[in-house]
Amino acid sequence: MSEPARRERILQAAVAGGLLEPEEIPLAAFLDLDLVAENVAALMRAFPSGVQVLHAFAAKANSIVPVLAGLRDLGMGCEVASEGELAQALAAGFSPQEIVFDSPAKTARELRQALAAGIALNIDNFQELERIEALRTQNPSGSSLGLRINPQIGLGGIAAMSTAGASSKFGVPLQDPGLREQILAAYAADPAMDRIHTHVGSQGCPLPLIGEGIAKVVDLAEEVNRRAGFQQIRTIDIGGGLPVDFESDEPVAAFDAYVAQLQESAPALFSGVYSVVTEFGRSILAKAGFTAAFVEYTKVSGGQHIAITHAGAQVATRTVFMPESWPLRVSAHTADGSRKTGAEIGQDVAGPCCFAGDVVARNRDLPLLEPGDLVALLDTGAYYASTPFTYNSIQQPPVYGAALEDNGDVRFTLLRGQQSMEALLMASGKGLHAAGRTPWPRAITKSGTALPACLPVPAAVRRSAAH
Ligand SMILES: Cc1ncc(COP(=O)(O)O)c(C=O)c1O
Repeated sequence: MSEPARRERILQAAVAGGLLEPEEIPLAAFLDLDLVAENVAALMRAFPSGVQVLHAFAAKANSIVPVLAGLRDLGMGCEVASEGELAQALAAGFSPQEIVFDSPAKTARELRQALAAGIALNIDNFQELERIEALRTQNPSGSSLGLRINPQIGLGGIAAMSTAGASSKFGVPLQDPGLREQILAAYAADPAMDRIHTHVGSQGCPLPLIGEGIAKVVDLAEEVNRRAGFQQIRTIDIGGGLPVDFESDEPVAAFDAYVAQLQESAPALFSGVYSVVTEFGRSILAKAGFTAAFVEYTKVSGGQHIAITHAGAQVATRTVFMPESWPLRVSAHTADGSRKTGAEIGQDVAGPCCFAGDVVARNRDLPLLEPGDLVALLDTGAYYASTPFTYNSIQQPPVYGAALEDNGDVRFTLLRGQQSMEALLMASGKGLHAAGRTPWPRAITKSGTALPACLPVPAAVRRSAAH
């Protein structure tokens, strides 16, 4: 079945089964689980069989716990970049050995937790390294440790997603004066540092640029090992960042081309002496997901047809704020999920948020949308509904996994429930103030001397306020 036909079938089954409903559930996200499995298998096949590889899914791309658990079942590891993502990975069943911890801002608490659990750490900078060395002196750890290197080979097509520019905030800059020697000295000082990491950037970084960045880091690893006189660096973490084609319907990412590029740019990576870690996110899930929303109203304004739907900046944040960098395909459907036919006309597909720029597609040619129709935003399996934006306090939509049977039936799995109004209120601080009292007593707004009596202020703050 073609990809558009699969999506149509899933949408029809979802509407028929009440998983999408104009009043109660006007917005929902779907993940085609068969396509995910096919894609992960393609990733695993692409790497040479003689090389030990941990494919650590980048949790930031979709941190929904059952999604992570499914990827674990398919044989992936997990890359996390915060205490929250670590908790999600552990909840999904990953063992510490299957997890890699990045982040440029790890707190001492996060470091202690990772070191105690034996989780591999990609160390962002020398200050973090010093902190880790001190913690290891107090409590020895079995964690694999290494520096994140910024090869400084330039930006890709989306500056905000490129992490290998001259002044990126990530990693230790390799080409700044004296830094290569400082990196080599850090490895020489601690033979337990047995890994090295780089991530050139995400989306918009062409394969030759990714290959060039990884080659610089492989070359550095070889130099560390030559100087050490033994194979000190055993693991090279090459990050993620394989771009996704947001214009076509090819569900399997270009993993073969990626590996071919590395075989050309950095052949030593595949010599068999290194184990390799990858951190793909978008290329694993983006193409397998779509987000469906009902059209609530339509209008013509200044001659422009506009459809107001329930999918906007709250689930398509990057697309709304950076439309040139993150354009999305949109398909039009009737209320029962079938593909809408008819003459196409340019229409703005807008979201529900209260700001004028909340438009996911401008003047897009589609059959004329009417209230009650559905739109589907395609290729949104990563970094969309799973990374919501809470503007206007719109409930987060449910996320469903879908598996198609040979007879056309669809089996759905709830991956994340629609956010309840109570959960939304709790996330908004409900319950933290005494009923009927404002948290800003006159005393604090006028003189600034008193703390609000109705807030649960920590004892230390209360003490210092009293002085
Ligand atoms: C360190 C690191 N690894 C992996 C990724 C995943 O990138 P992508 O989803 O483009 O594969 C990111 C994305 O920001 C990242 O920062």
